[in-house]
Amino acid sequence: MVQASLETRGVTEVDSDALVVTLFEDAMSPAAQEVDRALDGALTEMRESRELTGKFGERVVLRTLGRLPAKRVLLLGLGKRHQLDTYRLHNAFWFGGTVLRKQGVHSVTACVDGTIVAAIGDKNGAAEAAPLDTVHGAVTGLAMGNFRYERNKTDRQPERGIEQITLHGLNGSGDSQRVQEALREAVVLADACNTVRDWVNAPSNTLTPTKLAAAARTLYEGTGLEVEVLEKADLEREGAGALLGVARGSEEPPVMIAVRWDGGRPDGPRLALVGKGITFDTGGIDIKPSANMELMKFDMGGGAAVLGAMWAISQLKPNANVIGVVPATENMPGGRAYKPGDVLTSKMSGRTIEVINTDAEGRIILSDGLAYARRLGATHLVDVATLTGAVVVALGHVNAGLFSNDDDLTRLVLQAAQRAGDRLAPLPMHPEYDVCLTSDVADVKNLGGRQGGSISAAVFLREFTGGLPWVHLDIAGTVWNDQTDQTQIPKGPSGTPVRTFVHLAFEFARL
Ligand code: BES
Ligand code: MN
Ligand code: ZN
Repeated sequence: MVQASLETRGVTEVDSDALVVTLFEDAMSPAAQEVDRALDGALTEMRESRELTGKFGERVVLRTLGRLPAKRVLLLGLGKRHQLDTYRLHNAFWFGGTVLRKQGVHSVTACVDGTIVAAIGDKNGAAEAAPLDTVHGAVTGLAMGNFRYERNKTDRQPERGIEQITLHGLNGSGDSQRVQEALREAVVLADACNTVRDWVNAPSNTLTPTKLAAAARTLYEGTGLEVEVLEKADLEREGAGALLGVARGSEEPPVMIAVRWDGGRPDGPRLALVGKGITFDTGGIDIKPSANMELMKFDMGGGAAVLGAMWAISQLKPNANVIGVVPATENMPGGRAYKPGDVLTSKMSGRTIEVINTDAEGRIILSDGLAYARRLGATHLVDVATLTGAVVVALGHVNAGLFSNDDDLTRLVLQAAQRAGDRLAPLPMHPEYDVCLTSDVADVKNLGGRQGGSISAAVFLREFTGGLPWVHLDIAGTVWNDQTDQTQIPKGPSGTPVRTFVHLAFEFARL
């Protein structure tokens, strides 16, 4: 875990391995101007020659050769001022963290300033929170750019990476006590996201449902979180026929992981985070084409985000009751696998489900997850899942789809995401979409038409909310950026929407 603190020294006094200074397309930051003076106008010259443009994601490293106590300066482009939000700030600093790690940097001083805070404040609509969102964006970005997944590399040399981050430029802004706290929060958030990315990266032969439950237990030791893992026999006793149905094709037993954070308000609202935990999705009997199927190890990304967010919540201790529920299984085409036309009976949810397509498994296991969350006393439901390819077609890797039955909860989630730096795009659930659920033989079927595929998945899930306020996030596109021509978003697993969930828990503390 990195250490983070506020930098009190001036830009020309800082002796870190690297100084990070930012620029917009139309202006260098005050820190960049100081560096420019110390380097005899090198930056001005580079801007004149267009070697330095300030375009979003630009990163140029200069050696300071003794002209500054810091060994290097990283010039980081933030693009257009009016386009800067927490999401873009976070991604820019993430790119910066990756560059610096590759250079063997251990201590970094990141310079932010009032113009960044103002831009963030304009977007997030909460001026007093803007310095905190700025701290979160920059520090989580650097710490996440520093992350590497090399568990399965035989000759891995343990690398130190970035160990120290100091943040320059926020000493005078607002409540310095809160800024200090925000630094600690950022370190916890980045750590939670990196744990989630570790799990999402993990191949399915090393991260089975059982191992995911064991990893969660280990992570939660000494945190005050209560963990319960329903094993196969427990699921049979509880009648989780939907989850058990999907699990039939696999030799690996399914689990339902439940975690509870007690915020000390026994009569307060209880937020349930429910995450899809498919540790590998072959499609089952309706098997997927082989191209890119290896990526289906990320199909537990929603479940991992729930488990990671619960850990961060246990560290940051909001006065809100939060439970996490993760139904987990493989989706495999075994000899005992569930088949198209089968009807699954779930005592847990009180519903029967006709299986039209075994590859629409996420919504099936989530139906039991939502039912179990209600059993645990949830008053508000938020589920997260890599649910449909259709949402990737609609929104790419930039936005997750948001579906809901409740405008107030939608507003809370959108506000949390805006501040945390996740992008969520609300998509509609008009009544005309409902017909897609009607089954001739069971209560519901698991497949709508080909069109509006993300919406019919959401319509299916809504059947299992018992009318509670509910938001569904389809993160099939945002869990992992595999698009090589998308240069504005870091590649690989993103850790989304952990930071949104933690912000949401704090919003709940005020309800
Ligand atoms: N895990 C997939 C969704 C997915 C697809 C995530 C591509 C990321 C990238 C999900 O279980 C699935 O297979 N969905 C099907 C549903 C269809 C059968 C209705 C899909 O989207 O094709
Ligand atoms: Mn599937
Ligand atoms: Zn799936």
